[in-house]
Amino acid sequence: MTYRNIEVSPIAGALGAEISGVDLSQPLGNETFAEIRKAFDENLVIFFRDQTITPEQHLEFAGRFGAFDIHPFAAGLPDHPEVLPVIKEADDAGTNFGGLWHSDVTFYERPPLGSVLYALDAPAYGGDTMFANQYLAYETLSEGMKEMLDGMTAVHSATRVYGNSGTSVNKYGPGVKSMKIRTGDDADDTVEHPVVRVIPETGRKALFLNRTYTIRFSGWTEAESDPLLEYLCNHAVKPEFTCRFRWRDGSIAFWDNRCAQHFALNDYHGQRRAMHRVTIVGERPMAIEESGRAAA
Ligand code: SIN
Repeated sequence: MTYRNIEVSPIAGALGAEISGVDLSQPLGNETFAEIRKAFDENLVIFFRDQTITPEQHLEFAGRFGAFDIHPFAAGLPDHPEVLPVIKEADDAGTNFGGLWHSDVTFYERPPLGSVLYALDAPAYGGDTMFANQYLAYETLSEGMKEMLDGMTAVHSATRVYGNSGTSVNKYGPGVKSMKIRTGDDADDTVEHPVVRVIPETGRKALFLNRTYTIRFSGWTEAESDPLLEYLCNHAVKPEFTCRFRWRDGSIAFWDNRCAQHFALNDYHGQRRAMHRVTIVGERPMAIEESGRAAA
């Protein structure tokens, strides 16, 4: 597509594009907004540089794309609970938030459309975020594997991350010292999602599984599911499906949580990294069968 109001420069072959020519502290005109939405749908994650935005302006930009989510386990800003501070202090050598391949909160019935992450204080080096294209992850599977996965659903839960149970991996739980994170029995709830979802705007099929929240395939035990989940989760983040974003103060990443996974690298101990994240509510994942019905 040709863009008249913004410039869109891809940063990798698989996904990711830097957008220039826009100041996100100002209200967006309808044409510019439509072009940003198009760039988002085409590139899965878009980046902006050298922005200076308040929490209110951050919310105004994200709010053009949908309603806000409030994270159920990680505390938002006191005045703006929809703005989640994602922080690791310089003296915190522990676990970082998001330091595992995942899509955000897929344990919801309606997992988010995406998140807008704004860098207030980026490390001088390290702390990059990686993204992986889940359309490519699906499209590069064999026809036999696709046929099997097309009709399958999987169980997602926050239990391993935010649960109280003894088996909890608790990757982000008490380990993330610089943030206010709670655990609870409500993390043990489960939801089922199609393993392959169709994204309404593009009509394309994306693999929808992740190591953090996908527990097992529906109707399968965890032991039965583990080998296939392991295979698919490794496949989904092959280097050729990824891009890597280097942060500077004032950078913004806006990812499509429905068809991209992300991973925050934890390689900057001794330096502070402080971001604000606003997450936008999404739709219930659409299975292939439903997309056929919708088109009929
Ligand atoms: C997240 O998973 O939302 C955190 C991403 C990051 O800090 O780069």
